[in-house]
Amino acid sequence: NYKKGLKDYYKNYFPIGVAVNMAALKGADSALIVHEFNSVTPENDMKMGPIHPKENEYNWKNADAIVDFAVKHHIKIRGHNLLWHNQAPGWMFKNADGSEVSKEVLLKRLKDHITTVVNHYKGKIYAWDVVNEAIDDDSTKFMRNSMWYKICGDDFIPKAFEYAHAADPKAALYYNDYNSEHPAKREHIYKLLKSLVDAKVPITGVGMQGHWKLNDPTPELLRKALDEYSSLGLKIQITELDITIRMPRSRPANLNTQANAANANLLPVPDAGFTPELEQKQAAQYKMVFDIFRQYKNVITGVTFWNLSDKYSWLDSRGGGLAGGAAAGQTSSRTVRKAYPLLFDENL
Ligand code: G3I
Repeated sequence: NYKKGLKDYYKNYFPIGVAVNMAALKGADSALIVHEFNSVTPENDMKMGPIHPKENEYNWKNADAIVDFAVKHHIKIRGHNLLWHNQAPGWMFKNADGSEVSKEVLLKRLKDHITTVVNHYKGKIYAWDVVNEAIDDDSTKFMRNSMWYKICGDDFIPKAFEYAHAADPKAALYYNDYNSEHPAKREHIYKLLKSLVDAKVPITGVGMQGHWKLNDPTPELLRKALDEYSSLGLKIQITELDITIRMPRSRPANLNTQANAANANLLPVPDAGFTPELEQKQAAQYKMVFDIFRQYKNVITGVTFWNLSDKYSWLDSRGGGLAGGAAAGQTSSRTVRKAYPLLFDENL
């Protein structure tokens, strides 16, 4: 019914993207993607585990299908991601005898992986999430104690950027993380980014994932993060935007007090579906963040939604994004709490 799509309304600002998987490449989903968006990110198919399941085996099938779809429809592609603690294949960290690899071996494997994958999509992928979520959630710690960190120390981060840059000097390279507007984590991400910039590591910018809630972040926290990161001369992309209608019962203790105060008046949302009241609150939050994005159009170089419609969201398998999620039994058949986090409803 709409002549113009989101991408057209935003053509003077930044590309509008969406995370996709194989199921989205056909039928009504694909038609909606082509109409509304001019950027895609594969939700899972380029991650190290799926694309590189064994040392000498790459599985290009799904990722290639997504890239072919995007190229055919003149849609830009963000690559996600070259290094993460999650969805990393077990073989990466082990020798043939099962013992843990040395730092030298791990960096060599990382280099082979990044070089091969970036090269495979050279000229087609305009931006890569090179390192994903390397900072710890616990504000008393700095780096996440992943296998990468355990074996390599923090060297793996600059190395990953250098390998990616060598493979495709034209690709924009991002560090990507969540809760990147919460003060304690923001300071740690800033510290990491500053060290990379100071060491002249080839990094283009920071991906703020944007897994947000009805009143989190506040406008103040969002602006502060955009100001701080851009003060380093870095670009910013909002890489995984969704706004769940669910609020956690209590904030994890390690999150900052300002965000705690901002959320104190929000009671857990009973499982009454997507009420008009919630829809209105969500619309207000989307409006708030997009008003700010437009004001920062000189530093924001892309905004990507984490999936197309409320038919499917990663949050649904986590109780709508409530703390504890599925692990706390919140997605049993009696209490499925969907998150309704996206712009389009189940009927698109
Ligand atoms: O592919 C297998 C399939 O073979 C198997 O039968 C099935 C059984 O569970 O699992 C399938 O893999 C799942 C995969 O999604 C594809 O559907 C994994 O279990 C599941 O863990 C995986 O979840 C993804 C998650 O990353 C992994 O942690 C979500 O779809 C994806 O939306 C999510 O995305 C992340 C970003 O990459 C980074 N930032 C946070 C964001 C949300 O967690």
